[in-house]
Amino acid sequence: MPNAGITGIGSYLPPRVLTNRDLEQVVDTSDEWITTRTGIKERRIALEGQAASDLAVKAAEKALEDAQLDAKQIGLIIVATVTPDMFFPATACLVQDKIGATNAAAFDLEAGCSGFVYALSVATQFINAGVYQNVLVIGAETLSKITDWSDRNTCVLFGDGAGAVVVSNIGDENRGILANYLKADGSGGELLLVPAGGSRLPVTKDTVEKRLHYINMNGSEVFKFAVKIMGCAAKNVVKLAGLKLSDVDYLIPHQANRRIVDAAIKRLKLSPDRVYMNLDKYGNMSSASIPVALDEAVKKGFIKKGDTVLMVGFGAGLTWGASVLRWIK
Ligand code: ACO
Repeated sequence: MPNAGITGIGSYLPPRVLTNRDLEQVVDTSDEWITTRTGIKERRIALEGQAASDLAVKAAEKALEDAQLDAKQIGLIIVATVTPDMFFPATACLVQDKIGATNAAAFDLEAGCSGFVYALSVATQFINAGVYQNVLVIGAETLSKITDWSDRNTCVLFGDGAGAVVVSNIGDENRGILANYLKADGSGGELLLVPAGGSRLPVTKDTVEKRLHYINMNGSEVFKFAVKIMGCAAKNVVKLAGLKLSDVDYLIPHQANRRIVDAAIKRLKLSPDRVYMNLDKYGNMSSASIPVALDEAVKKGFIKKGDTVLMVGFGAGLTWGASVLRWIK
């Protein structure tokens, strides 16, 4: 009986750091406001010529090395992103070429900040159906490129980075990925969007002048949605896995806002020392937030072999989802 498990993990953060103090020079804000309202202290910014695939490749190479696999052993590459290099070709195809994964199929998946959890779930289905032995799942974002640097409501929140995992058939249903849970509510799509640049509002001088190619967000509504949905996703996926929340050793939440996570874990009665946060260093990296946090939590020794790990994502769409797994390495 095939069963999917994470056999390799890696991440990459661009070296350029943008602190809250730096942002005080850009918009009317303060380190104090950003820290108390969000928990963010600094974020990474991709270089001018660096696109999502460049970040993705670096994370993917580390994940492959960790899994001790050659790129040619990968059957499928899924890149979760809201900031692809281009409309097409898919960023996953660019990654496939750059890492030499010549035997792989490749596509992008767009599910807002839930992208990584969605992609992990898709990879699980392909492995469990026996279609592929190894799938590379990457969350890669260059949100700095679609951020309106004159809008203090949004520009303080986001950052760039990439995280990747190799999902392989481990042939043991008691370990690896135990359950996935995905949901969406498109009626909330207008709460968080990039209005122009697609087929609804193609690029014109007018759309550029109105700054419609940047992230537009109703922060307080997204906040309320996120708190509610984190709890719902966590409870549902744990139930699907036949577990209880008290069985969870570590929670890796989407890193959007410290207050969202604090409110959600209070409702779930989870102790903060079972929750991994790195939002202070990187801000919200959308699809990259969860795999980067997972990688750090593993490398720092917080997550150990046999631990039950819960990951919860939420974001544009609106979308939300969760995965629960037993760490196998
Ligand atoms: N610096 C100083 N003041 C600011 C800033 C800033 N950077 N940003 C907003 N303000 C002001 C507002 O203008 C407002 O002023 P006003 O009362 O004079 O109008 C005041 O601060 C309060 O604004 P609120 O929106 O009430 O602040 P809130 O406590 O809700 O925090 C925030 C705002 C941080 C955006 C919060 O709502 C939030 O985190 N929402 C969720 C955002 C999120 O997670 N988005 C990503 C989802 S995932 C994805 O798919 C990308």
